[in-house]
Amino acid sequence: MMANSMLLRDTFGRVIDYIRISITDRCNLRCIYCMPNSGVGLLQKTDILSFEEILKFIEAASEVGIRKIRITGGEPLLRSDLPDFIKSIKALGTIDDISLTTNGQLLEKYAQKLAESGLNRVNVSLDTLNAKRYSDITRGGSLETVLNGIKKAEECGLLPIKLNMVPLRGINDDEIEDFVRIAMTTDYQVRFIELMPVCITGDGDGKGRLVPMEEIMNRLNAMGTLVALKLRRHGPARYYTFENSPGVIGIISGVTCQFCSECNRLRFTSDGKLRPCLFSDIEVDFKTLIRNGASKETLKLLLLNAANLKPEKHDTKFNLTTLSKIGG
Ligand code: 5AD
Ligand code: SF4
Repeated sequence: MMANSMLLRDTFGRVIDYIRISITDRCNLRCIYCMPNSGVGLLQKTDILSFEEILKFIEAASEVGIRKIRITGGEPLLRSDLPDFIKSIKALGTIDDISLTTNGQLLEKYAQKLAESGLNRVNVSLDTLNAKRYSDITRGGSLETVLNGIKKAEECGLLPIKLNMVPLRGINDDEIEDFVRIAMTTDYQVRFIELMPVCITGDGDGKGRLVPMEEIMNRLNAMGTLVALKLRRHGPARYYTFENSPGVIGIISGVTCQFCSECNRLRFTSDGKLRPCLFSDIEVDFKTLIRNGASKETLKLLLLNAANLKPEKHDTKFNLTTLSKIGG
């Protein structure tokens, strides 16, 4: 067997070097586009993998080519021993880049410890700069708290800080230009994420709130001459800047634009299932194997097989429950 056949590949033969790992389905916010107002079926605590168990998975994954890890939730900072977990990932010596997606509510408290643990950078969800709107969208979150968290992360060198903004029609879509200006005038990168139609309370599947990528592009073009940046080999994000500007704007579209042919991501859920595609129900259970003491070689083989299950294209009909379970 050739050595490089032991690397994860997508359906197009490209090496997959990146995995998103959800470490909890719990969240301290309840964003309207992510969770219903009440009645989210949470995982049993015992079904959520321990850090030791996740580390076994990461170790196997790193031996089939994974070099970059993004830690997501729910809200990952609800697991207060996260910095120690990051230290132990670093100690493997094989992962070059560890990033964290957070809602920022606990970021001020943990930024220093996270930076010391070896975390490289953070993506912070921030959909509005209006305190009342922030509280409405997140159902109770504090804008001031997340802004303090972002400042602290910046001071601690968790750079570049990326701000994730989900435009919602009639709720915050009038702030798209304000976020573009943030990207142009600060070191924060701004990423517009197209709404995925999961439940918005009272809105059915939420499609009425969707601001299509095409509209965002038109509004960006109205603000100046856009230049496409080739920051990434592939993935569902497109990056742009304006002529003579240092700012970076990302557009992430999963709905109106079929990016599947460029998608290289795999997701690992907090209950130990590998999801080759966010929009497909296919998942491969690692928890049982890990808990039964499977060898690293077995986990590696299962990973290689799971990558082959990545569909070529996703169905535009969604079957998502809550993203907090799968890990955004
Ligand atoms: N559509 C688009 N993005 C979503 N997120 C959560 N739910 C949705 C949805 N329905 C995003 C958040 C956050 C990341 C973790 O996932 O905005 O930035
Ligand atoms: Fe929590 Fe993120 Fe979902 Fe908001 S989008 S409820 S912060 S997991």
